[in-house]
Amino acid sequence: MKNILEVKNINKFYGKKQVLEDVSFTIHESEILGFIGPNGSGKTTTIKLILGLQSMKSGEITINGYNIKKDFSKAIERVGAIVESPDLYMYLTGRKNLELIKDMYKDIPDGRVEDVIELVGLSNRIDDKVSKYSLGMRQRLGIAAAIINKPNLLILDEPTNGLDPEGIKELRDLLKGLVKKEKIGILISSHNLAELDNFCTDVCIIKKGKILTNKTIEDAKKTNRESYLIRLNKTTGLKKILYKEDEIVDSDTIRVYTEKDNINDVIVKLIEANYKIYGITKEELSLEDAFLNAAGGNEID
Ligand SMILES: Nc1ncnc2c1ncn2[C@@H]1O[C@H](COP(=O)(O)OP(=O)(O)O)[C@@H](O)[C@H]1O
Ligand SMILES: [Mg+2]
Repeated sequence: MKNILEVKNINKFYGKKQVLEDVSFTIHESEILGFIGPNGSGKTTTIKLILGLQSMKSGEITINGYNIKKDFSKAIERVGAIVESPDLYMYLTGRKNLELIKDMYKDIPDGRVEDVIELVGLSNRIDDKVSKYSLGMRQRLGIAAAIINKPNLLILDEPTNGLDPEGIKELRDLLKGLVKKEKIGILISSHNLAELDNFCTDVCIIKKGKILTNKTIEDAKKTNRESYLIRLNKTTGLKKILYKEDEIVDSDTIRVYTEKDNINDVIVKLIEANYKIYGITKEELSLEDAFLNAAGGNEID
């Protein structure tokens, strides 16, 4: 798969304070990378460096094979971005905003404005003034503006901020559709891991300027041990049977960390020790659990 964005060992200081330390990650075609970290962890700074809005002390950023220091205009050519909030003219209609942006580029066919309006689902309201739009609609118009030039990398800095759950869902659906239809790679930052569950293909967690984990969702879930909840008639006297890491949840439930192939042995041991089994449930790891485990149990917020 083609590398769209490569961030390699970037270091950034504000004065004497180091805010990014050896930050590295990669985005390939059609990947959605969730860039997650609490406020102040360095997400916006990283994004500003990628967009050439700030300079870094060391490291390398390559977009579509072009180094941003050596070939900035080539590197930035196929990037669309919204940093903090979209730049829109509130007193103009959505359509007029898009037409103004289209005119800043040459060689964009007229039909492209119509296409992006459709892609972001704003056809019904596109001739209303942006001042009448909800936050979610402004966000979608911002995305339409950011993709008018057919970028293959879209960068969105905390686009879910201020959106209600319905707005977040619409945004996720919109972005998933974009990846499919336009083969775009997306870097999306958020301080809320749960918001990006079942949505991103990859997740990179940043804390105090350092990358804690950087994995595909599949790998993150795979490398975690499986766990099972077992309901019993009682949970006294289990020490000899259970391993140290297993947990007694309450007076009738235990949590056993084991693999699928071994669960049978655990049950046999329990039955032989005269416990009654009332139920077994495999615990599904949420993205949040998977990454918190991978990050050594660190709190995200
Ligand atoms: N212009 C600036 N001057 C000095 N410090 C800054 C500036 N911008 C951000 N910082 C600091 O850099 C760190 C990372 O900030 P930022 O990248 O905005 O984090 P995030 O986007 O993850 O909330 C924070 O400690 C913040 O206070
Ligand atoms: Mg930020």
